[in-house]
Parts: sequence; structure tokens; C-alpha cells
Amino acid sequence: MPDSSKHLLLVEDENALRQVVAEQLRDRGYNVEEADSGEAAITKLSDFAFDAIVTDLRLPGVDGSSVIDAAIERYPDIVAIVVTGYGTVKDAVEAIKRGAADFVSKPFQIDELLLVLDAALEKRRLKSENAYLRAQLEERYRFEGIVGKSRAMAKLFQLLEMVAGTNSTILITGETGTGKEVVARAIHHSGGRRQQRFIALNCSAIPETLLEAELFGHVRGAFTGAVGNRQGRLEQAHKGTLFLDEVGTMSTALQMKLLRVLQEREFERVGDSHSTKVDVRVIAATNSDLGRMVADGQFREDLFYRLNVIPVQLPPLRDRKEDIPLLVQHFLAKFQSSATVSQEAMRHLMSYLWPGNVRQLENAVERAVAFSAGRSQIDLGDLPSELQHDETPPVAASLTLPDEGLNLEALVATIERDLIHRALERTNGNKGQAATLLHLKRTTLVEKLKRLSE
Ligand SMILES: Nc1ncnc2c1ncn2[C@@H]1O[C@H](COP(=O)(O)OP(=O)(O)OP(=O)(O)O)[C@@H](O)[C@H]1O
Ligand SMILES: [Mg+2]
Repeated sequence: MPDSSKHLLLVEDENALRQVVAEQLRDRGYNVEEADSGEAAITKLSDFAFDAIVTDLRLPGVDGSSVIDAAIERYPDIVAIVVTGYGTVKDAVEAIKRGAADFVSKPFQIDELLLVLDAALEKRRLKSENAYLRAQLEERYRFEGIVGKSRAMAKLFQLLEMVAGTNSTILITGETGTGKEVVARAIHHSGGRRQQRFIALNCSAIPETLLEAELFGHVRGAFTGAVGNRQGRLEQAHKGTLFLDEVGTMSTALQMKLLRVLQEREFERVGDSHSTKVDVRVIAATNSDLGRMVADGQFREDLFYRLNVIPVQLPPLRDRKEDIPLLVQHFLAKFQSSATVSQEAMRHLMSYLWPGNVRQLENAVERAVAFSAGRSQIDLGDLPSELQHDETPPVAASLTLPDEGLNLEALVATIERDLIHRALERTNGNKGQAATLLHLKRTTLVEKLKRLSE
């Protein structure tokens, strides 16, 4: 028999019957192993990965369902067929619930069994082929957990591959939720420092007065409450990577100290007169325009250049819609959902502008999974309300000036109406909060609403 023959375990306690069936299966090209009891079957299963198992349900001692359980627990992909005595449908249904692929009832013709077996094996083949294709697809379109197949993301993956092995300082820019932190971690995990620590510090989350001690550590008595010596994040990241998030919010005094770290790889703990050397790779991130802040005198130019050795720009999600189906699939898997998404819902997911980018998409998918609980398909109604509108909001990225020109006033009015509606929706109709969201006085919003309803 060629290697491609299927290995099958036949479990049946009636010797005569088992031998006949085994013989017939062998004639049809199966490589058959026989077991005359549940115990014997389980022993054989423990050291060989059969393609299929055919077992009688009623066996003395360990019964057929336990054999099925043992087989599926070890080999989720095994094809299990049960043989039920006297055609009791109930037993068969029970077995299928436990993961059996199909059943035949005694007495059966060998062709009946072969038909059921071939169909089940073919189904499994297709399933694993799909899984294989999916795995391949994912392989090609991800870099350390970053999903995307758009041109922008493909370029990003190339860049990341190039820079991961270096020690160069990297500045990641991008709107909120575009994946700045994921990218920073990916760079760390694919580079030579991956065995060492990745230490993240969000500069905007720590009060200005505490940030310096947090970053550089302090010595005992450096300030009230400094009872002992303490390592800062910089030292914790020694030999590893320091991720400075929201670096644009750093005070100018601290900016100068950070510059020194980048230039000389040394620093002083707060209250210490000695310098400490460190070996860290710095990855910084910001969602503000640092170049602009330099021009406005809010950010040190020299520090900007030291940070911006390798700029990595993350495109907003609305500029790479083709990544959305892939991301949706990725998040469905993350939230352990096997549901699919209706094409209508997918269209809305793809036309929405995603101000909160990938994070917002992730939240929307998580919510949809919860809302669609038990159903096999996620529908439009499972999406957050701001996604359920029909018209594509005409704002921002989709703005182009057509050759034939456009009616500016009408367009601006549409944008205004659209954003006001969205603000009200997000705030559940609270006009005060909606006005704040739009940077308007409440009275102005009320006036506009009155005009809109005319
Ligand atoms: N390309 C991507 N593939 C898979 N998941 C992603 C991708 N981009 C972002 N995410 C997910 O989106 C969420 C937000 O990402 P992350 O925290 O890295 O964004 P950020 O740019 O740092 O946002 P913020 O500016 O608000 O801090 C995370 O849960 C992350 O896993
Ligand atoms: Mg972040």
C-alpha cells in the first residue's frame, strides 16, 4: 500500500464481525488496526495518530463513547465514526454531539460504511486545507501580530524587518489607536534584544513632577517620600528596549535630560551626583506633530532629530480599508468567535472613518461578538449605532475636488449636519456633551439644530 493509504482503528468486540469488516476495509485500501475492547483501543490511540476510528458504541468495560472522547481529546482532527446497535438514533446523536463525524447502524453493508468514511475524510481534508490556506494567508500578512495587507502595511513590514536588527532610535507617529505600541513591541520582539526587557513609559500618564524620578529613578532622600534608592524605567530597560509613549508631552527640562541619554547613554538618578551608564534602545511614539511642535518652540529640535533617526508613520485605518476584513477576522479569532460577518455589515465596517482607528475597530468587533451571541452571523444590527447609517460620511479622507468642481456650501452643510448627528448619537442625545465634543457653545449647537430642522 502506498503511504497515502488511510490508517484506521476498528473497535468491535465481536471477533467474527470485526475480522470481516477489517478484511473488507483492507480490500478497499485502508490500513486497518483492530481492537477488541475499549481499553485496547485507547492504548493503540495513545501511540498512533490514526486518520479515522470506527467504533461500536456498546463495548464491555470502557464503552464506545469513552473511546470517542479519548480519541477526540488527543486528536481534534480525527474522523470518528460510531456503529450503533439496533439503530438507536439517540445514541448516534449523542456521539455526534461528542464530536463523532457520522454513524452507521447495525447491521450495515460495507459500502454504507465506506461511503460515510470517505465523505467524512474528504470533509476533514477540505477543512485542514482551508486552515492551511488561512494560516498561510496570515503568515504573509502579519509581522509579529501586526495584521495588514495594504500597500502601506506591506511597506511598513519591510521597514520593520530592516530596523528590527539595528539599535537605531525609532520615532513612531500615528493617530490614536493605529498600533504604535504594537509596532514598538514587534520591533523589540524581532530584534536582537528580544530576550531582554521591553519597558514602556507613558509620559502623559504620569504627573510632570514624578516623571523624572519614574524615568531616571532616585536615591534615598532625593525628595520627600524618597525613602530608599529606586531604579527608574531607564535602568530597568538596560540591555533591552525603552518605549517612551506620548513623548511630545515631556517638559522642556526633561527633554534636555533625555537628549543626554540619547547622546551619551548616561544619566543621573534624581538626587544622585554620580552618572549611571545604560545600554538601551529607545523607541518613542507620539500622536502629535512633533515637527510642528519644534517649529512652535514646544519641542527641542536637537531631541527631535535624535529621536527621529528612523521615522515610522502608521497610516490611519480609513486610508487602508482593505485591511479591515483581515483585521475583523483577526479580532473574531481573538474573541474566540467562529461567527462570520454579513457582507452588509462588512460594507459598513469598511466605509466608516474610524476616528479611533484599529482600537475602535477591535472594540466594535468585541461588542458585535457579544451582541450576536449564539448566532453564526454578525449583522449590521450588531454593530455600534454610529456604524449603522447608510450614507458614507463625506468627511476628511474621502474629500477630493472633482474635475468638474463642487458646491462648497452644500458640502460643508452636509458635513456639519453629519458631525452634529454623530456627536449627539455618541452622547446619547446630550446636547451639552455633544457641544463640548464639537468645541461649540451649547447655545450655538442648539441654534444649528434649529436651523437643520427647518
Ligand atoms: N495592525 C494591527 N493589527 C492587529 N492589531 C492591531 C493593529 N494595530 C492596532 N492593533 C490593536 O489595536 C489596539 C490599539 O493599538 P495600540 O495600543 O498599539 O495603539 P496606539 O497607536 O498606541 O494608540 P494610542 O495613541 O491611543 O496610545 C491594540 O489592541 C492593538 O492590539
Ligand atoms: Mg499607545
